[in-house]
Amino acid sequence: MVRLLLDELGGRPAGQVEPAELADLYAPPRLPWLRANMVSTLDGAATGPDGRSGSINNNVDKAVFDTLRRRADAVVVGAGTARAEGYGEAGCPLVVVSRRGELPPGLRSATSGRVLLATCAAGRDAALGSLADEHVVVEGDDEVDLAAVVRSLGERGFRELLTEGGPRLLTDLLAAGLVDELCLTTTPRLLADDLPRITNGPALDVRLRAGVLLEEDGTLLGRWLVDRG
Ligand SMILES: NC(=O)c1ccc[n+]([C@@H]2O[C@H](COP(=O)([O-])OP(=O)(O)OC[C@H]3O[C@@H](n4cnc5c(N)ncnc54)[C@H](OP(=O)(O)O)[C@@H]3O)[C@@H](O)[C@H]2O)c1
Repeated sequence: MVRLLLDELGGRPAGQVEPAELADLYAPPRLPWLRANMVSTLDGAATGPDGRSGSINNNVDKAVFDTLRRRADAVVVGAGTARAEGYGEAGCPLVVVSRRGELPPGLRSATSGRVLLATCAAGRDAALGSLADEHVVVEGDDEVDLAAVVRSLGERGFRELLTEGGPRLLTDLLAAGLVDELCLTTTPRLLADDLPRITNGPALDVRLRAGVLLEEDGTLLGRWLVDRG
């Protein structure tokens, strides 16, 4: 049973949350909105030893993952994550970010229009080898201009955006000041080892404040809002 611990956004009282209430608890305060959804163990591992996040998540994380996908106009994901996690089509359009313009194998036979590639001029030719021109977003010369990608997605009507990482893309989006919210599931496990964290990239210092906190059997589910000062 999911318990609401804190709701600074909607002011709901603490208490039990019915599954049908979950989508409302994740409503964005305004549009456009870009949220990231990630999972981590208590000691900060973003994957299990198998290199996948599926080995550290659990049922309540999956329930929120599905809820956020249902809410989203489009899911934005790094090519590395789509490759590592074996991404297929999602319920909404999937936007794969790849500097090289390389569509991960599992998405090459996707239904037309369900997958877009966001790349830069350097990856354009490779991208056009996999997808039709109208499904390729080219922004930037040698690096992908993520702000321009987000603007371009907005022009296509994708205003409630969900990124599922991975750590490299999340860090780049944070560095570009594009992330409004981090939804983070913390599972009550400790794995030690040299496992990745949810961020990976040059140093940054992003301050966040708790918007909503939920709990089930020791798993904490937070909506952390990026504090823009
Ligand atoms: N715990 C979690 O919530 C969570 C979530 C997602 C992923 N993961 C895990 O994280 C690992 C993958 O990590 P990762 O950091 O490599 O993931 P990633 O950011 O998804 O992938 C990196 C690749 O994505 C593309 N990319 C990312 N940011 C880009 C940018 N700003 N501009 C252009 N291209 C960009 C590049 O692809 P090209 O090489 O094609 O140019 C880059 O090589 C996997 O093990 C996955 O299971 C964990």
